[in-house]
Amino acid sequence: MRNLNRLGSLKIATKAHNEFVTEIDHLAEREIMATIHKGYPDHGFLAEESGRSGKDDYLWIIDPLDGTTNFIHGFPVFAVSVGLQHRGRLEHGVVYDPMRQELFTASRGAGAQLDGRRIRVSEQRHLENSLIGTGFPYRANRQWLDNYLEMLKDILVATAGIRRPGAAALDLAFVAAGRLDGFWEIGLKPWDMAAGKLLIQEAGGRVSDLAGGDSCMDSGNILAGTPKIYEQLLKLLKPHLTPDLK
Ligand code: IPD
Ligand code: CA
Ligand code: CA
Repeated sequence: MRNLNRLGSLKIATKAHNEFVTEIDHLAEREIMATIHKGYPDHGFLAEESGRSGKDDYLWIIDPLDGTTNFIHGFPVFAVSVGLQHRGRLEHGVVYDPMRQELFTASRGAGAQLDGRRIRVSEQRHLENSLIGTGFPYRANRQWLDNYLEMLKDILVATAGIRRPGAAALDLAFVAAGRLDGFWEIGLKPWDMAAGKLLIQEAGGRVSDLAGGDSCMDSGNILAGTPKIYEQLLKLLKPHLTPDLK
């Protein structure tokens, strides 16, 4: 947050087409990892900027700054996402929005909270009244752009509106908190989804890959929502799924 006042002098590197990283991404990741390592020296990490390190019995999955493109522009939608897996199963998830100072937390079997108060997905049942979040395939995943645009067309006309805020971890937290009724995106990474997935499940929502299977953490293709809206989105996506999108 301190660095938002000096965006003009930030060091920004380009990792790939449309993929930027700032010194802040690295700085935040180092701080988060050092803090966790102090408490849990035996645990391993999967972090966006430094990759895989340490053992994998307990694995902390970290996106130190989700929404870097927004951050670089001073567009105030970005978050920190931290998930903890034990032997491949998500146990804890935290998404923090430093702009609104909102902390979303979930532990397996213990529900999801916003600033300590229980949250649940919305009770929306009607697709035509639902607000849906998404993200564009605008990087290495552009081969699916045409499929995506067809999905977008169908979902746009069937719902009350679509939002593309620009920080997937926060979008998922918003589904958990009932601020969005559904969400889908192609080509995410485990650190975008780990915490948010658990948040939604613990808030009573559904999360899967685009075909309803459980491969989203591997494929990066994710569909989520309140139980009723999720089912309706699944049907709308179906005609646009090529075998490699399932
Ligand atoms: C990105 C954001 C964005 C999503 C991209 C992600 P980053 O994360 O979550 O909303 O559309 O696919 O990579 O790179 O800003 O951490
Ligand atoms: Ca991210
Ligand atoms: Ca990031």
